[in-house]
Amino acid sequence: MKIRGVRIRAGFLAALAGVLCFAPALVASDGPRRGNPHAYFRNTDQCPKCHISTGSRPDPGRFSTEADAVCLECHKKESMGRSHPGNVRPEETPRKMKVPADLRLDDDGRIMCLTCHTAHGPNVSYFLRRSSPDGGFEVLCEACHGKQP
Ligand code: HEC
Ligand code: HEC
Ligand code: HEC
Ligand code: HEC
Repeated sequence: MKIRGVRIRAGFLAALAGVLCFAPALVASDGPRRGNPHAYFRNTDQCPKCHISTGSRPDPGRFSTEADAVCLECHKKESMGRSHPGNVRPEETPRKMKVPADLRLDDDGRIMCLTCHTAHGPNVSYFLRRSSPDGGFEVLCEACHGKQP
């Protein structure tokens, strides 16, 4: 099945049928602020897919090294638009890059999808952690790469 270019495995969809019932509305409306397709992240069974739990509670600041797999269940690599090196530790690259704290890294200090995309944030331009009012995302790149001359 395909929802707006996102291929979803049938079994997975069946498992999520209850929470994905907003999908038809999403397809029907072409408004820029349609329902959040990631709303089901708020279901309690989803927390451990991204968060590492300390005790019985998901730690808000520690993220599973498997979190990318969550995204790749629905988004194919080819349909991700811009490609970017992932799974690297910015501090260990030749540029010894410093990453601002609001750009989260996984528990192994590596870049993940959620470094650039929010999980709980509002349905803003591509769910990007940073973007300028006109929707440009250079501000996101500059957070790590610095201003381009
Ligand atoms: C798809 C991955 C993902 C899932 C699922 C997820 N989280 Fe998060 N969570 C994050 C990320 C990434 C952040 C950092 C802020 C953001 O991206 O919105 C975060 C931040 C938080 C925070 C800190 C407050 C904030 O907004 O910064 C809390 C508390 C939290 N999550 C609790 C939960 C609970 C409870 C669940 C399950 C109901 C859950 N999360 C499910 C990825 C996830
Ligand atoms: C259950 C399936 C599912 C999962 C898992 C999922 N997404 Fe999505 N995502 C969607 C759907 C459906 C849309 C809406 C697509 C559209 O309207 O073009 C969407 C939209 C997006 C968009 C915006 C695309 C656009 O054209 O506006 C981004 C970015 C995105 N997802 C990133 C992620 C990331 C990062 C993760 C992992 C944390 C993730 N998604 C996990 C189903 C999913
Ligand atoms: C370095 C930052 C960065 C990382 C890491 C990143 N993305 Fe993105 N992503 C972006 C930006 C910026 C855009 C919007 C512009 C574009 O499409 O080129 C985007 C767009 C997308 C889109 C929408 C594509 C479209 O054209 O509709 C999806 C889906 C997506 N990303 C998923 C992912 C997934 C899944 C991962 C992890 C495997 C990931 N992204 C990792 C920055 C990132
Ligand atoms: C969280 C920090 C971070 C953000 C945000 C980020 N990058 Fe990067 N980027 C890196 C790191 C680290 C590398 C080096 C990877 C390596 O050495 O293997 C890299 C590598 C690259 C490369 C490969 C060539 C090179 O310079 O090494 C390009 C192109 C690139 N980034 C573009 C972008 C763009 C465009 C954006 C905004 C959409 C962006 N980056 C956002 C951290 C980031």
